[in-house]
Amino acid sequence: MLHRAIARILDAQGAWADPLGKLFVAIFGALYKPVPILKDFLNGVWLGHPLHPAITDVPIGAFVVALVLDIMGARPAATAAIGVGVLFMIVAALVGYADYIDLEGKPRRFGTVHSSLMLLAAVLYLVSFGLRIGCCGSGGSDAEVWISVVGFVIVIGSAYVGGELVYNMGSQVDRHAWRGGGTKWTAVEVGELPENTPVKAKAAAQTLVLVRQGKDIHALHDICAHQGCNLSDGGKVVGDTIECPCHGSRYRLRDGLVVRGPAVFDQPHYDVRGTAGKMEVRRTDTLSTA
Ligand code: FES
Repeated sequence: MLHRAIARILDAQGAWADPLGKLFVAIFGALYKPVPILKDFLNGVWLGHPLHPAITDVPIGAFVVALVLDIMGARPAATAAIGVGVLFMIVAALVGYADYIDLEGKPRRFGTVHSSLMLLAAVLYLVSFGLRIGCCGSGGSDAEVWISVVGFVIVIGSAYVGGELVYNMGSQVDRHAWRGGGTKWTAVEVGELPENTPVKAKAAAQTLVLVRQGKDIHALHDICAHQGCNLSDGGKVVGDTIECPCHGSRYRLRDGLVVRGPAVFDQPHYDVRGTAGKMEVRRTDTLSTA
């Protein structure tokens, strides 16, 4: 019940969140998209894991420490913890916007609420930090503590919205997280395989994209690990990779390795035997859940 009520409140924020989301996407899209290597780095392609959640633990931890230190009356140490927290909050925001600009619809709306709340909290913490170090001749008052307490409450609320985005909407979750590896060779239903042209095929319950390059036939799962688009539906072959038509992730054909984001997870790859007309595939992943 509580979750439904909160989700409804969040979903009703479109009047301000949707236009603001468009603005954020325009700004950060213009900053990141012309430099794919930077965007890949921020997405976490090199890490094989989204980078944003790995960084957000630092400011949240620092703010918890600051709160405890304030309660204990250790004001200078709390100020130092807030300084660290704000610094890493800015880093986490810059990294998070690299994921955010690929969101659409409701996930983008929730992402806008999440980032707006975090920005508000960052401003409050900055004001508190300024007061604590004696900026504007007003150090040592209780106001600096209460402002940071309000900032902390907003951070926790915003973290909840971020959790909704990931755990309820599946943003940045591998679209193949629950798919088993399987060890059986399975017959493939497919017709013609023109060279370097992605072709959709069925292998029992699996939907594949096949690409023939010379005598080699490559098989990957058709559903992009990033946000679930079909690679066979508008995807294009670029060298030894296939590029997703939605956000441009590229996967190496011979093994499914992700070589360009925003996807950070590899694409399931299949061994192929036989030729068109009498072909079988078997999934080759080593990190399967099966
Ligand atoms: S769905 Fe986003 S890159 Fe494929």
